[in-house]
Amino acid sequence: MINALFSAREALWPVYRPILESAFADQGLEVALTNKTDRPETMDYLIYAPAREDDDLSIYPNLKLIQSLWAGPDKLMRNKTLTKPMARMVDPGMTQGMVDYVFGHIMRHHLDVNRFSNAKPGEWLLDWGPSLPADRTVAVLGIGALGMACAQAAHDYGFKVLGWSRTQKDGAPFTCYAGQDGLKTVLEQADIVVTLLPNTPATENLIDGETLSIMKDGAALINPGRGQLIDDDALLAALNSGKIIGATLDVFRIEPLPADHPYWHHPNVLVTPHVASETRPSTACIVVADNMARVERGETALHLIDPDLKY
Ligand code: GLV
Repeated sequence: MINALFSAREALWPVYRPILESAFADQGLEVALTNKTDRPETMDYLIYAPAREDDDLSIYPNLKLIQSLWAGPDKLMRNKTLTKPMARMVDPGMTQGMVDYVFGHIMRHHLDVNRFSNAKPGEWLLDWGPSLPADRTVAVLGIGALGMACAQAAHDYGFKVLGWSRTQKDGAPFTCYAGQDGLKTVLEQADIVVTLLPNTPATENLIDGETLSIMKDGAALINPGRGQLIDDDALLAALNSGKIIGATLDVFRIEPLPADHPYWHHPNVLVTPHVASETRPSTACIVVADNMARVERGETALHLIDPDLKY
């Protein structure tokens, strides 16, 4: 018998419990699943989306794996008591949701919706020259599971797509770049930039005054990744000067985004409240059970977080 503790917001337990139990059965795993324990030392697995950042994880000395329910591990990595292997969530349901969000907002910028929704009554903007997708370049920064799927969708629809990531990605049907030179090449061509990178010391403030200045005049930005990717003052300056024509922002350094933050009040910024996508229990539980079954068979878990790279 395997012992697994589900540790997440109270409201998620009745949702996840039956789906996890059925996913364990499908994998032939016999799991005693609970959301509370007074014998933490007996736990083999932690299925984890903590309500608080400062859990003492040292009370679980025998964990074989912490399976996060979140795609981005940055909050969890800040926990100093984390010493066990942790896997991030790569969930096909979350990926599909992210494609919906990113593709929808690419289309919003492609169709210049901001310009029309900001028009004054009677302002009949006949100078709009509708571009076709093939005339627009979409850059996706971060070609992981989420970024790859979004870039693929934009490519399939007919946009010119450029990918950028830490390490060179091969085999994509669009051109991918890596490194600082690659970033410059991608940014200077892009009409719409999507940031889907993890929050790490290497990606913090990737979009700052310097990278914004490389971007085309009138480019748009979509950030469903992490707030830390953006230097907010630099982005606001670029929005105010018109260098950046519009931004769709889902994630922020401080969430909820304070009501007096200039993003809320900027006519060319759309704020969404960290809803771009989320883990979907029906698909994520299959991933959890599969990863636990791998570990039980003595294999390495998928999507383990590298403590040095911090994702
Ligand atoms: C959400 O932001 C996640 O990391 O899953």
